[in-house]
Amino acid sequence: MFKKEVYIRRREKLRELMGSNGILLFVGNNDVPMNYPANQYHFRQDSSFLYFFGIDEPNFSAIIDTDSGDEILFGDDFEIDDIIWMGDQPTVKERAEEVGISKTLPLKELSGIIKKAIDSGGKIHYLPPYRADVLLKISELTGIPYSEVKSKSSVELIKSVVKLREKKSSEEIAEIEKAVNITREMHIEAMKNAKPGIYERDIAGLIEGIALRRGAGISFPVIFTIHGETLHNHYHGNLIEEGRLIINDSGAETTLHYAGDITRTFPAGKKFDSRQRDIYSLVLKAQKKAISMLAPGVFYRDVHLEVSKVFAEGLKELGLMKGEPEEAVKEGAHALFFPHGLGHMMGLDVHDMENLGEDYVGYREGLKRSNQFGTAYLRLAKELEPGFVFTVEPGLYFIPKLIDLWKSEGKFKDFINYEKVETYKDFGGVRIEDDYLVTENGARLLGDPIPKEIDEVEAIRDKAY
Ligand code: GLY
Ligand code: MN
Ligand code: MN
Repeated sequence: MFKKEVYIRRREKLRELMGSNGILLFVGNNDVPMNYPANQYHFRQDSSFLYFFGIDEPNFSAIIDTDSGDEILFGDDFEIDDIIWMGDQPTVKERAEEVGISKTLPLKELSGIIKKAIDSGGKIHYLPPYRADVLLKISELTGIPYSEVKSKSSVELIKSVVKLREKKSSEEIAEIEKAVNITREMHIEAMKNAKPGIYERDIAGLIEGIALRRGAGISFPVIFTIHGETLHNHYHGNLIEEGRLIINDSGAETTLHYAGDITRTFPAGKKFDSRQRDIYSLVLKAQKKAISMLAPGVFYRDVHLEVSKVFAEGLKELGLMKGEPEEAVKEGAHALFFPHGLGHMMGLDVHDMENLGEDYVGYREGLKRSNQFGTAYLRLAKELEPGFVFTVEPGLYFIPKLIDLWKSEGKFKDFINYEKVETYKDFGGVRIEDDYLVTENGARLLGDPIPKEIDEVEAIRDKAY
């Protein structure tokens, strides 16, 4: 937990942004059963709850009354049965004091307080729930039918929370760097230990173990696959075979739940073959181009489009695309090979605040999301500002089903050399991802550098097995 002043300041700023405006309701996450009630998934607190209240335990809720300034933490003290099974715990009062809240009440008091506020014409602001039990709780507390709970979440509260959480403070940046450095260890160990003849899960398990040993575990399910053409491939049952490329997209969370998110691609054997070198070099070139552009005021969508142009030019040189690269990007032809966005905000969530609505996080009024295939998946498009933390993750993929579909439709046949693309259907994919912070006059890499130059990667692979 950070010092209590951090949480006090965050809530103060939230009250300033919201003005005198009714009640802000935060329902924390609960334990979720896996296969029977007492056998539960690993607990993960809601990130906004962590941000404002710091309490990393199930069964808490909190309100901020923006009119009176009251802040109340709701929770129940452990009784002897709970203590027998789960150990003695700090009281609700003690937990509240740690984050600078002086008033606590039992959970059962929450509904009366909300009801009273509604009856006297007060507004209840809450963030869009993404878990069914929390949604039902909000429905129960507010009387809003559950089918309308999401749509009635507070846009004002969403915008205020985004405004605060999108700019990382120095203590948050230090946590994120910790997460990236744990992630770095996961990546280097993977490069040192993967080899032909073992299964993907041998390494996926190894690196998840590092995340658990060093922090709070993984920040998202590990992607460790010889089928990197599937963007979020969580299957780990393939045998690693010589000649394949391996994509490792994985990250750790610190004990305070700040995330890292890194991707490295390396050969299953000791060296990249010439086709792999070509595509890998192009992805690395594109990533370096993107990094060179990072600065306050730069639209991340422009960086995404510049990367797309580097791809279209490079793929043309390799004979996979043709025509005018700029035109190809304008039309969206490059998205056959680069069907995702260049990156996303990162913080307490690996896709930071995605539950609040991507467009509130990565876009703004007057900046609309593109509806073109590929660019439409761009999660961060707006102008960069000092304090933003986000990923830079270009990739090139050969997705057999997508190639077949576009080819059968004759899509972009003036820009895509399908004959040559056919010969890459067994290629897989390449992605390279690093985490960056925007500074006052540029940007800096978070965490210690992780090998990505071809020579560096091959040097590790050379000693790997
Ligand atoms: N780890 C998922 C992503 O890179 O967005
Ligand atoms: Mn990412
Ligand atoms: Mn990633």
